[in-house]
Amino acid sequence: MIETDDSLSGKSKAYKEQPRLYSNVETDNLTDIELNLLTEAIYAYRGFDFRDYARESLQRRVFNLMELEGLATISALQEKVLHEKSVMERFLLAMSINVTDMFRDPETFLIFREKVIPILRTYPSIRIWHAGCSTGEEVYSLAILLEEEHLIDKTQIYATDINEAVLKTAKQGVYPLSVMQGYTNNYMKAGGKRAFSEYYHASHEHIIFKPSLRDRVVFARHNLVSDASFNEFNVIFCRNVMIYFNENLQNRVNELIYNSLCRFGVLVLGSNESVDFSPRATSYKNIDQSNCIYQRVS
Ligand SMILES: C[S@@+](CC[C@H](N)C(=O)[O-])C[C@H]1O[C@@H](n2cnc3c(N)ncnc32)[C@H](O)[C@@H]1O
Repeated sequence: MIETDDSLSGKSKAYKEQPRLYSNVETDNLTDIELNLLTEAIYAYRGFDFRDYARESLQRRVFNLMELEGLATISALQEKVLHEKSVMERFLLAMSINVTDMFRDPETFLIFREKVIPILRTYPSIRIWHAGCSTGEEVYSLAILLEEEHLIDKTQIYATDINEAVLKTAKQGVYPLSVMQGYTNNYMKAGGKRAFSEYYHASHEHIIFKPSLRDRVVFARHNLVSDASFNEFNVIFCRNVMIYFNENLQNRVNELIYNSLCRFGVLVLGSNESVDFSPRATSYKNIDQSNCIYQRVS
């Protein structure tokens, strides 16, 4: 017998009613499953490992991106990320919080000048790694400081980030004129010895840093989660990167940093970061605890 509308069973009739909504608990669970699938898929396909990123901030950033892309579900985003290169790039951009500043936390640079520069003076050559350099302001800040301390000519700086788009800005060294007043204030608080304007020239609404500040810098893509150590450094800056990782990932990155530091090498972390609770805590001594500057001692 052919089923007509009249002969539909009670169950089939239910299809004509409003779809029943899942409960909050069920959708939370589904969000978790979809986030796992998304991060696993991206890792399997492209090797970018977001599986151990702090969950709340990962979820918030994924939801923001879904809104920007006009997508209703994480699964829909996954489909786009895997099949459209431009969406993958936007995903990487959304995942990396790129907030940065010239002489960010100026006191840290002041203390670096007072306590770390005397150590570096004793070395015949110096290798420095900015891991997670974002758009490069931290790198130019240190290059200026090293120039003022007459150490730049014997220094090689490696500046890396997971994100190609921010590296492009970093390489260009071009920043909006509107942020220069704040940067100049930070430079002075960080113990700057000259007029900050000596380091750039202004053109229309932008400033361009002196190309000589880049002479000693190599900018390159490097993923702290999945790439290996690539040299031994006298100084590593890894500031405001690990705050976005969960404990497991922080420990892995701390291990990579430890293995990339020379004995007596100096580690500079962000103001909310510390090695104190990492498995390598006893391998470091504090150079300045309140500014998160450590020295590898074993
Ligand atoms: C908040 S910014 C910090 C920039 C600068 N270090 C500072 O303190 O001002 C964090 C940077 O870490 C980068 N990042 C995030 N995950 C990374 C990873 N797995 N490997 C390398 N860089 C990463 C982001 O792309 C971003 O540019």
